[in-house]
Amino acid sequence: MANDTRELNRRQDHLTGRSDIWLFGYGSLIHKVDFPYLESREASIKGWARRFWQASHDHRGTPESPGRVLTLVEAPGETCVGVAYRVTPDVFGHLDHREKNGYLRLTIDMTFVRPPHQNLHANGLIYIAGPDNAAWLGPASDAEIAAQIARSRGPSGRNIDYVLKLDDALQAMGAEDLHVAAIAKHLRPSTSTQSSAKGRQP
Ligand code: SIN
Repeated sequence: MANDTRELNRRQDHLTGRSDIWLFGYGSLIHKVDFPYLESREASIKGWARRFWQASHDHRGTPESPGRVLTLVEAPGETCVGVAYRVTPDVFGHLDHREKNGYLRLTIDMTFVRPPHQNLHANGLIYIAGPDNAAWLGPASDAEIAAQIARSRGPSGRNIDYVLKLDDALQAMGAEDLHVAAIAKHLRPSTSTQSSAKGRQP
């Protein structure tokens, strides 16, 4: 698949005749909301799990030194909690550009999490980078993933901030993700190191 998915996404027929549509965000779309939206709601999708298996050459890394960012992999029985935004179709010019490094728009069924919309469903769009895209990295150990993230930065900033901001946001939503939390744990300065360093001060 092409490195740059903008044209593939533009050719899709998701937006014809729509005045608005739900977009489900599970990664940076949760904590970096640089697009207008009509409303947002916590929501979940079934059968997908977050993984830092996608390279970032354009946001949290460079072509020479790619970072690692999230995509979703199929995971029967699992639930992924994120944020749904109701947006107008014109927003997808910006979003397709932002997600151009391998992500394709797919349609997805989402369930809203909180009252008064709890358990109501909506059909909407999601950006997923699949194993056939040119920036796919695939699995690695938590330590290897964390080491790559720790040394990477790109035009959107440090790769570590992508992880820690998302981990914070998910915790604030009461929706901690075990994979994200495991990588964040490798990256956060440990409290025992901090307290032993403090203990050495006069
Ligand atoms: C998303 O957040 O939904 C897509 C992946 C990303 O931009 O981190």
